[in-house]
Amino acid sequence: MGVIFLSVKYKSPSKLTLSMKPDVMEKESYTVAILGATGLVGRAMLKTLERRNFPITGIRLLATGKSAGKTLYYNEKEVEVEAVTEGSFEGVDISLFSAGSDASLEFSDIAVAHGSLVIDNSSAHRMKDEIPLVVPEVNPEKAFENSGIIANPNCSTIQLVVALKPLMKLGIEHVFVSTYQSVSGMGQKGIDRLLEETNSVLDGRSRSRAGGSEVPFAFNAVPKCDYFLENGYTREEMKLLLESRKILGSPDLKMSVTAVRVPVMYGHSETVAVKFKDKVSADQVRGILAASPGITVMDDPENGIYPHPRYSEGSGETFVGRIRQDLDDPTTVLMFIVADNVLKGAAWNAVQIAELLTSSRKESASV
Ligand SMILES: NC(=O)c1ccc[n+]([C@@H]2O[C@H](COP(=O)([O-])OP(=O)(O)OC[C@H]3O[C@@H](n4cnc5c(N)ncnc54)[C@H](OP(=O)(O)O)[C@@H]3O)[C@@H](O)[C@H]2O)c1
Repeated sequence: MGVIFLSVKYKSPSKLTLSMKPDVMEKESYTVAILGATGLVGRAMLKTLERRNFPITGIRLLATGKSAGKTLYYNEKEVEVEAVTEGSFEGVDISLFSAGSDASLEFSDIAVAHGSLVIDNSSAHRMKDEIPLVVPEVNPEKAFENSGIIANPNCSTIQLVVALKPLMKLGIEHVFVSTYQSVSGMGQKGIDRLLEETNSVLDGRSRSRAGGSEVPFAFNAVPKCDYFLENGYTREEMKLLLESRKILGSPDLKMSVTAVRVPVMYGHSETVAVKFKDKVSADQVRGILAASPGITVMDDPENGIYPHPRYSEGSGETFVGRIRQDLDDPTTVLMFIVADNVLKGAAWNAVQIAELLTSSRKESASV
C-alpha cells in the first residue's frame, strides 16, 4: 500500500486520473468516507447521507489525530472517528472532503489512486480547468466529466447560481450582489466566537470581542469575509465572482460583489440585482424561478412571506423572495436569495453530486 501511495503521489493529476477514473455508477451501495467528519460540514454530511437514505455499505469517519476515538452516530449506530492516514481510503468508493484546502491537497490524489471518487468542499481544486465545479441544479453534466475529483463550490456561490442559471435565458447583462453571511460559514470556530462575543456583551463584560483585537461579529456587520486581496476585494468576493462564472459557463459575466459577515448562526442571504439586456418584468422572473429545480419562491410580502436565514435552516432548498422591478430601470429586477450554507452551501450539494454519479440519483433536491 505504501508503494501505491509513493508511486502516485507525485504524478500529474491528468496522468493519475486517466487510469484511475472511479467506476461507482454500477454499484448498489457504497463505502463512503468523510474527511473532516467532526466539523460542521462533515457532521452535516453524515446527517444528509442519512436523511437522503444514501445506499451505504460502510462509512469511514476521518479527522485529525485529536479527534481519533471520538464517536459520531450514523443511523443510530456509533461510528468511531479515525485519524486520517494514507491508508484510510482503501476500499472507499466515495470520499466527501470537508477538512480545508491543506488536507484536500494532501489526500485527494491518494484517495483517487485508491479508486475513490473525491467530492471536495474546500477551495483547493475549484478553479482548476480540469476539475468540474458542480451544482446539480445548474451544471450536472459537468459531474460526468470528472477524472476522480469534483469540486463543491463556495457556499455563497451555490445559492446565487441556482437562482441565476434559469434566468440566463433572458440574457443577463450584469449581476450586482451583496451578501449577508452567517458565522457558520467559518466553521465551528465562527459559531463559538459569535456565542462568546454575544454572551460577553449581554453579561456586560465587553462591548467588543473578548480577548482579541479583531472586529467583533456580535451586534455588528463586517464587510470582510476571509482576507483582503491586493485588488481591494476579499477572497470570498473573488470566489463568488470567479466560481459563478465557471459554473454558469459565462467567463465574461459582469458581476459587482460585496460580501459581509453578519451575526447570524446559519443561513447566508444575498440581495441581488440582475440587470438584463432587455426589459424583463418581476412576474417573468418569479414565474421562471418558481418552475426551476431546487428553488422555493417565497414572495408574498403582504402576508409576511419572504425568505430569511432562520427559515432556511435545515433545508436543501434555495429560497427566493422580494422579487421586484427596479423603480428606475425596467431592465433590472431585484431579489433576496437565502440558503442554509452548511447544507445547500456544502453538505447537501456534495451528497447531491454523489447521487448524480450513483444509483442513488433522485429527482428532487429537497426533502
Ligand atoms: N461552513 C460552511 O458553511 C462551509 C461551506 C462550504 C464549504 N466549506 C468548506 O468545508 C470545509 C470544512 O468546513 P467546516 O465549516 O466544517 O470547518 P470546521 O467546523 O472547522 O471543521 C473542520 C474539519 O476538518 C478536520 N480537519 C482539519 N484539518 C485536518 C487535517 N489536516 N486532516 C484531517 N482532518 C482535518 C477537522 O478535524 P478535527 O475536529 O479533528 O480538528 C474537522 O473535522 C472547509 O474547507 C470549508 O471551506 C464550509
